[in-house]
Amino acid sequence: RQNLVSIKDMNKDEILLILMQAQKFSQGESWRAGEQTFVANLFFEASTRTKTSFEVAERKLGLEVIPFEAGSSSVLKGETLYDTVRTLESIGVNAVVIRHKEDQYYKQLVNKVNIPVINAGDGCGQHPTQCLLDLFTIQQEFNRFEGLKVGIVGDIRHSRVARSNAESLRKLGADVRFSGPPEWFADDYLTAGDYMELDRLVEEVDVLMLLRIQHERHDGGAEMTKEDYHQMYGLTVEREQRMKPGSIIMHPAPVNRDVEIADGLVECSRSRIFKQMENGVFVRMAVLKKVLEGSNSNELVNQKWQY
Ligand code: CP
Repeated sequence: RQNLVSIKDMNKDEILLILMQAQKFSQGESWRAGEQTFVANLFFEASTRTKTSFEVAERKLGLEVIPFEAGSSSVLKGETLYDTVRTLESIGVNAVVIRHKEDQYYKQLVNKVNIPVINAGDGCGQHPTQCLLDLFTIQQEFNRFEGLKVGIVGDIRHSRVARSNAESLRKLGADVRFSGPPEWFADDYLTAGDYMELDRLVEEVDVLMLLRIQHERHDGGAEMTKEDYHQMYGLTVEREQRMKPGSIIMHPAPVNRDVEIADGLVECSRSRIFKQMENGVFVRMAVLKKVLEGSNSNELVNQKWQY
C-alpha cells in the first residue's frame, strides 16, 4: 500500500521523482487514474492552502472529490478516526488526505486500512506535502540542494514544517541552520549545534525560511509582544537589505504580517511565498499519482532539471 505519512519514509530518489513529476505537471502534463476514483479530504484542523490545493490537484487529475466536513460527521458522535476511515473505505473511497491535531495519528491507520493515507499535517509532527512543495520551489530557483545554505527561523519546536524540511534538506545535501527564540527550540537533534544569531544568518543563507508562531500549540504562558518578536526574530526591512544577492524568502503561510516578516516584504522580489502556494498544486498532483498508481520508487532520476 502506498502512503505518504512522513518525509522520513522517502529516500532521496523518491523525493526527486516527486519533484520531477511536479515539474511535468507544472508544464501541462496530464494523468488520469483510469477508472472512477474517489478521494476524501478529512481536515480536523483549520486549513486554507493545503485543503484547497489538494482539492484543485484532485480535480485536475479527474478524481471524484467526496465532501467530508469533520464538524458535521459522525466524529461528533464519538466515532474514532480508524472507524471513520474504514467506513469511507467500505463505501468506496479510494484514498484519504488527513490533517489532524494528534502527532502521528496515522499510526492507527497505516497497515490497518486498505486505502492510501496522505498526511496533510499531524500536530507538531510532519507536513510532508508542504515539505515537498518547499523543495520543489527551492529546486526551481537553484537547480540543486547540495551545499545550499538554508536558514529556518522561528517557532521550531511546534513546527511540523521545520521538522519535515530540515530532515529532507539534509538528506539532499543542504546545510540547514536555525534561529529564533531559544524557548521554542526543539530539544532533539534538529537544532543541536546548528543555531545562528539571526543577524548573521540573514547574511549567509541562500534560502531564508520563516515560520509562523503556532499560538494554538503553546501552553498559554506569557509571550513577547508582536513588536518585540518582529524586532528580535522577524525579517525586518533592514535585515532583508543585508541578505545575499540571489537569496530567497520562503514561508509556509499563513503569514503574520509585521511579526515573522515585515508587511512590505511578503510580496517583495525575493519572496517566493505565493510561488510556494502555486507549486503546492503540482506537488500534490504528483503525490496523488504516486499513491494511486503505486509507482516504482527505484526508477532512475538522474535526469537534468531544465527550467
Ligand atoms: N501551509 C499550510 O499548511 O497552510 P494551511 O494551514 O492554510 O493549509
